[in-house]
Amino acid sequence: MTDSDSSFYVTTPIYYVNDKPHIGHAYTTILADVMSRFHRLSGSRTFFLTGTDEHGQKVEQAANKKKISPIEQCDATVIRFQNLWKKLNITHDDFIRTTEERHRKIVSKILQTLYDRGEIYKADYEGTYCVPCERFFTEKDLVGGNCPDCKRPVGQIVESNYFFKMSEHQEWLIGYINDNPDFIQPAHRRNETLGFLRQPLDDLCISRPKSRLSWGIELPFDREYVCYVWFDALINYISAPGFMADDPEFQKWWPATCHLIGKDILTTHTVYWPIMLKAIGISLPKSIFAHGWWLVGKDKMGKSLGNVVDPMNMCDRYGTDAFRYFLLAEMTPGNDASFTEKAFINRYNTDLADGLGNMLNRVIQLICRHFDGKIPSPKSQEADDIELQDETLAAVKTMEISFIEMKLDRGLEGVMKAVRACNRYFEKTAPWHLAKQDNKDRLSTVLYTAAESLRIVSVLLYPVIPGKMNIMRTVLGVDADHLEPELADSGKWGLLKPNTKTGDLPSLFPRIIVEKSVGNKQAPEKITTDTDGQNLIGIDDFSKIKLITARIITAERVENTKKLLKLVVDTGKGRRQIIAGIAESCSPDILVDKTIIIVSNLKPATICGNKSEGMLLAAQSGKKSVLLTVDGECSPGVRVG
Ligand code: MSP
Repeated sequence: MTDSDSSFYVTTPIYYVNDKPHIGHAYTTILADVMSRFHRLSGSRTFFLTGTDEHGQKVEQAANKKKISPIEQCDATVIRFQNLWKKLNITHDDFIRTTEERHRKIVSKILQTLYDRGEIYKADYEGTYCVPCERFFTEKDLVGGNCPDCKRPVGQIVESNYFFKMSEHQEWLIGYINDNPDFIQPAHRRNETLGFLRQPLDDLCISRPKSRLSWGIELPFDREYVCYVWFDALINYISAPGFMADDPEFQKWWPATCHLIGKDILTTHTVYWPIMLKAIGISLPKSIFAHGWWLVGKDKMGKSLGNVVDPMNMCDRYGTDAFRYFLLAEMTPGNDASFTEKAFINRYNTDLADGLGNMLNRVIQLICRHFDGKIPSPKSQEADDIELQDETLAAVKTMEISFIEMKLDRGLEGVMKAVRACNRYFEKTAPWHLAKQDNKDRLSTVLYTAAESLRIVSVLLYPVIPGKMNIMRTVLGVDADHLEPELADSGKWGLLKPNTKTGDLPSLFPRIIVEKSVGNKQAPEKITTDTDGQNLIGIDDFSKIKLITARIITAERVENTKKLLKLVVDTGKGRRQIIAGIAESCSPDILVDKTIIIVSNLKPATICGNKSEGMLLAAQSGKKSVLLTVDGECSPGVRVG
């Protein structure tokens, strides 16, 4: 969702203040934040709007329940949204409350203008009404006699009300949607709206008599009524940037680049809103993107089910960036996604702890040990280096495309692919061996290549996990003035400056160790590499290796070789032959009767034509192998470990 001109205006729905925020609200707001950050890093002028929908029956009912006034309900709940956005590191440019004077004034002005133009008229209406959703429905809309949205029972009411002419704009809207295929995204949502528009469109009841509901914006032409909450709410998208039709300040932002919404508010945004804008006489937003819902496991999330996921709690337990990352990586925008704590921990450990965090550890530890903590200077590139460079730059492309196509999960998968390539590159080039061989030139190139690949990754992940990427960039030695990168930096290979000092290495993403049940404590830290930067193994891996004591019965040289000895050992359960590369440091005759340690469950191999059933333990000291023997009496076949 990028545009060739350089201004980007994104909105979230404004949230009802009848209850505290949940994961669904957090998701849309994080998505908008990531898009805004991405556009800011690419140099676009960006305006990111969020806010709260404070009028209407839901809010009034919530206030009545608590025996407080509606505005007290709003003031208390809006803080919860604002605090959550702080916690989630949301960088909105404006936060609009529909109870603010700047909004009420514009809604009032628009109502009056539309009334004067004859777009709003008064009529009696008898209809089927859903109280919680505050909407009239026709018989054909109902599902099993209930509200099609909330599935609750509906009631009949007769009322004199004001109506906004929608029906006469139906053909125009169908034409507009067909002519502008990007207007409603993804495509299956466009089809849903077109399907809805196949039925005749009724005019929209935009008033509520004060006798039934008083919490709303008064109609300027009839003080006995307040405005229907949706008609009021949608106008926030133009009231926040200061709607005045011909005002250049307003036109700096309008039309919006993208309204992000959830799939349940598709009709209000893709039918009511475009027609309202047409009647007002201003252009339509460039796109409306409807994402799917977060389910909890397979269930719909809801208070009555007691499964509402609290974003604040997730941030406290696992960190803001981990939570942001999970939501974006797990949901393919447009489809529903499932939240479970198990899936969260799984993704966190795989992508962030074992993937990205581990890779940073490995690179920086070796740079500290062998280059005094300074970025080494790369020498000539070999095929492996070029391959990693290409794989990293491919992630840049994937990420860019994912923003255009609104498939951010794919962009993140592309970045993780590059991180995995980086880990593989380390295994293949084995810099710890290069260090032992004192091959400084090659070691410099390998460490530089891996560090540079991580620098590019840090730019690509910056919009999603800015806090952690600030830390990672400091560790990589990026200077303090450039911690917030420019997106263009991701496409340029070689920006890390050799000889810059790297920063202290914190544990970027401590692994989450799952105890029996997921507790409330901060995850304990786990180091994933040894001091040479090699991956650590768990006790389960170690216990697969069977070490036992064995007594050497015979030892002789293997013919035509310099290094190999043929040993026959007693394993306590029988005899076996082992070929060992220790001839240069051990004479065969001093070996007989020594008790040694062997790996007894190694697959047999043939070495220079001789069968070898196991491996003995020896230490590499310089160029010599020193046989490890047992100090003291120990019978053969005793398990070591
Ligand atoms: N106030 C209206 C929007 C007016 S916009 C001019 C509203 N508010 S809401 O608080 O009920 O919902 C806000 C958003 O949260 C909607 O986009 C809705 O789709 C989204 N979600 C609510 N539950 C959700 C999930 N379980 N998952 C993802 N988003 C969901 O509607």
